[in-house]
Amino acid sequence: MTQPIKSIGVLTSGGDAPGMNAAIRAVVRSAAFYDKKVFGIYEGYEGLIQNQIHELNARSVKTILNRGGTILKSSRSEEFRTKEGRKKAYDNLKSHGIDGLVLIGGNGTFTGGHIFWEEFGIPVIGVPGTIDNDLFGTDYTIGFDSATNTVVECIDKLRDTAESHNRLFFIEVMGRDSGFIALRSAVASGALDVILPEESAPMEDLISELKKGVENQKTNKLVVVAEGNKLGDTFWIAEQIRKEFPKMESKVTILGHLQRGGSPNCHDRILASQLGVAAVEALLNGKTDMMVGVENNVVSLTFLQKAISNKAVLNTELLRISKILSI
Ligand code: F6P
Repeated sequence: MTQPIKSIGVLTSGGDAPGMNAAIRAVVRSAAFYDKKVFGIYEGYEGLIQNQIHELNARSVKTILNRGGTILKSSRSEEFRTKEGRKKAYDNLKSHGIDGLVLIGGNGTFTGGHIFWEEFGIPVIGVPGTIDNDLFGTDYTIGFDSATNTVVECIDKLRDTAESHNRLFFIEVMGRDSGFIALRSAVASGALDVILPEESAPMEDLISELKKGVENQKTNKLVVVAEGNKLGDTFWIAEQIRKEFPKMESKVTILGHLQRGGSPNCHDRILASQLGVAAVEALLNGKTDMMVGVENNVVSLTFLQKAISNKAVLNTELLRISKILSI
């Protein structure tokens, strides 16, 4: 039988996302609420290996609810992929008396957490924090909604120039393996087309959408491109289109890490608060090797293995809607 948890460690790992701080605050405050010690582990798994571990209290997390990034900092640790690295991490945890971990991050974070639990038996609970929204077992990940709003705000601005100059814009958004940001922002910004990693539509489809746009006298043409799409690099796509439509002036804008920054919106602050509390309560209730999520408005638990080996499914209805409305 697992021992009752007395002391919890929290870390953020992988790409930062708006709302990670709100999640850290929720973990620290709920641990304090239940009279547990709580430690912040700085720079993710790398900091765990390097023993960058400091005790926090309810006041340590004041005024961070609305802040972007992560006060605990983040990293992608190569050393944690090795057994030796994980052993150092375990020894550091033991030296601080930490007997449960909350891991805020995405796929890579949970893969590491799952192996760590299997090897050393330290209870771990994952909190989905990534702008990509690509985790199975939650309708939304922390940061996705804020990032999508940032994208929509940027596309609205690009639309002004597209309209004023009759230009075509290719807007590249994040999503190494998933098109959640691309699809949602395309519908919300009225894009003419969207190119997703989940689809393998040929170049001809894009060409025919653009031809339709010309026939229908669309004065601005916005195409949202997910970075991980199968068609090709955004500059290459734009180049092919220039060959096909030599008179159409086209530009490429890569939004990049702009999407990860900024204050979390209300949705992400609430989600992070709910999930941070749920993670601590799950640990205290003897749960481990699981991710907390919200599905159909209810907090749920999914085994880490299941969360990382399954793919969150895109809403194809939204894709259909986007095709209808871009006429
Ligand atoms: O946070 C997820 C993500 O934004 C991906 O969509 C993207 O490919 C990746 O992180 C890039 O992260 P970095 O440049 O920090 O390695």
